[in-house]
Amino acid sequence: MNFSATKTILVTGGLGYIGSHTVVMLLEQGFSVVIVDNLSNSQAFIEERIREVADGTLQVYIEDVTNEKALEAIFQKHDIAGVLHFAAHKAVGESMQKPLEYYHNNISGLISLLACMKKYEVDNIIFSSSCTVYGEAEQLPINEQAPFQEAASVYGRTKQIAEHILHDFANACSKKIVSLRYFNPVGAHPSARLGELPGGIPDNLVPYITQTAAGVREYLFVFGNDYPTRDGTAIRDYIYIMDLADAHVLALQRLLSLNFEDFQSPEIYNLGTGRGYTVLEVISAFEKASGTELPYKFAPKREGDVTAAYADNKKAKEELGWQANTSLEYALSTAWKWEQAYRSEQSGS
Ligand code: UFG
Repeated sequence: MNFSATKTILVTGGLGYIGSHTVVMLLEQGFSVVIVDNLSNSQAFIEERIREVADGTLQVYIEDVTNEKALEAIFQKHDIAGVLHFAAHKAVGESMQKPLEYYHNNISGLISLLACMKKYEVDNIIFSSSCTVYGEAEQLPINEQAPFQEAASVYGRTKQIAEHILHDFANACSKKIVSLRYFNPVGAHPSARLGELPGGIPDNLVPYITQTAAGVREYLFVFGNDYPTRDGTAIRDYIYIMDLADAHVLALQRLLSLNFEDFQSPEIYNLGTGRGYTVLEVISAFEKASGTELPYKFAPKREGDVTAAYADNKKAKEELGWQANTSLEYALSTAWKWEQAYRSEQSGS
């Protein structure tokens, strides 16, 4: 059955990194998309890029999700079948400096959205959560039953609180809710027209690598080389952005197809490949993918970093019919292509 034919999906943060790639896939699947984005960590030109790579009905509102009045107007205007909620602040370090901004944006934004869903009887929502809710997990790979650990950052705490809110909301109202816990999203759209666009100095590994390879940064600093791992560097589960986007579409189709009684809200899915790579292995995969040599230096461990995190993704595979088969090398080659394309446009060549 084609669930997308006449369905309109509201995507908050739809001009951001994960949001924009997911919007492309939604449009390709025939959904109409309404984006709400305040451009706090995205660029207005991404709208045009989305239109370039995917056909379909797209409307963009530059608004803040914490502005409930503005949200209400959008809910009034569009017949929304489901919501994908990406809009949130996500920089771990910054969250320690600006806790109130993080609580306001990540928590108040969610509450405004849920209030609108309640008022306008929108039944389906997919929430962007993070593997950070698990902290330093006791067992690897990490499955969805692993308990929350004390969050190492305000950012992590906002994701935990948001999941508690969704749980309580699901108990009180008949809503179908999915929480997707992302591991480490990397890479770019194969066209190199969309990708990750960090403002300022990148916090995350892969944009730091591509910027170093492009000569924007002198060295990559590898945080910590005495972790108890095979080469002393920390292990993460790097998932290709298009595989991650695909999981959203599958989760949405499941939401739209199931009745309330067949649904135990909130449903939680880990989205990772199930395979962990050390930082040095990522560097070597990047060097292979790009044919460049990456200058790097070891630096002290970063506060709040865990030793290892990789997903048990069985549940997403079984229940969503999801595959996350793209190789790290391919994912990194798309990140590199994107970085190069972006730099050459910036320099006007
Ligand atoms: N790293 C470096 N050098 C860098 C950047 C990162 O060595 O310049 C290392 C980190 O120490 C870590 C690995 O590369 O071992 C990955 O780091 P990222 O910052 O790319 O990703 P994280 O695993 O820290 O981030 C993930 C999610 C975030 C979440 C965070 C919480 O991507 O959304 O976990 O810990 F907030």
